[in-house]
Amino acid sequence: MSQTASHPRAKVAVLISGTGSNMAALLYASRRADCPYEIVLIASNDPEAKGLRLAEAEGVATFSLAHKGMKRADHDIAMEKAVLESGAQYIALAGYMRILSPQFVSQWEGRMLNIHPSLLPKYKGLDTHARAIEAGDSHAGCSVHLVTAELDDGPVLGQTPVAIMPGDTPETLGGRVLYAEHQLYSRMLEELVTRPFRADWLLQKVSELALCLPEVEARESHGSPAWRTGGKSGKFFAHFSERHHGEPHVAVLVKTDGPDEMTALIERDPEIWFRPAYYGASGWAGLILNRPGVDWDHVRSWLERSWRSVAPRRLTGLMDAADQF
Ligand code: GRF
Repeated sequence: MSQTASHPRAKVAVLISGTGSNMAALLYASRRADCPYEIVLIASNDPEAKGLRLAEAEGVATFSLAHKGMKRADHDIAMEKAVLESGAQYIALAGYMRILSPQFVSQWEGRMLNIHPSLLPKYKGLDTHARAIEAGDSHAGCSVHLVTAELDDGPVLGQTPVAIMPGDTPETLGGRVLYAEHQLYSRMLEELVTRPFRADWLLQKVSELALCLPEVEARESHGSPAWRTGGKSGKFFAHFSERHHGEPHVAVLVKTDGPDEMTALIERDPEIWFRPAYYGASGWAGLILNRPGVDWDHVRSWLERSWRSVAPRRLTGLMDAADQF
């Protein structure tokens, strides 16, 4: 799969409360020359956290602020300020023993992940290994998930099962689960930060948006994914383009009013738009997707506009009626 070689590394802040062995695993994985992320800050709610000393020794910036005596929201604001000042685009929670305020969580939705020592959705919260042993499970394990407002509840990105052995105690089991955590976390973090540049993930996003529009059918066109509306003799309103004809772009082609509008778009935002080979002549503009900070509402509204320009009256009429509400 084509990767991020040409993209700058994603900047990640890691939040810890204790030992920081997962933080260390993320940090040492990031030392690989082609790792797609770098750690720009280790922050903690405990100035004594062991992991902070390791971070200092490794020359990574640190920040700590004891939460005692502070309101949750104020502490979160201070932590977030440090994260933003570090330039981090993602936050990895690694044994951060604080529940974050909903404001903080919503600010970072899709860009904050956590590692939890169980096979979620089993055993949210604490004492996960004791609970797995007690339940007679054959396997414990770990999960990396996106953080949402509910504790240990966001979409799971990946899991590793770890066999429970006869005579296991929470400590012996937890020790083995940690090995699995250290492998899983950096892999999932890499997966998350490379998504915005990966054609498979971008195609899935575009497809979800296109298929939300009325009467849309996915159908290949000239060997590439494309979407049309209006039934059997329907017309295409979007084409997916993955580095065609030597272009560096992964893009969705949408219909503009014509070459003039397309030229104006490209002149105004050359990092967003390009003139695709062949299609450009008839006013199809390339909306570039493999770039940082894509505004998916913008993509959604262009897909809708493009759809409207080819959809039959009976469908656009329905859409207009729906828009009234
Ligand atoms: C890990 O077990 C992790 O899954 C949980 O907290 C523990 C942190 O350990 N969220 P460490 O500080 O990374 O060694």
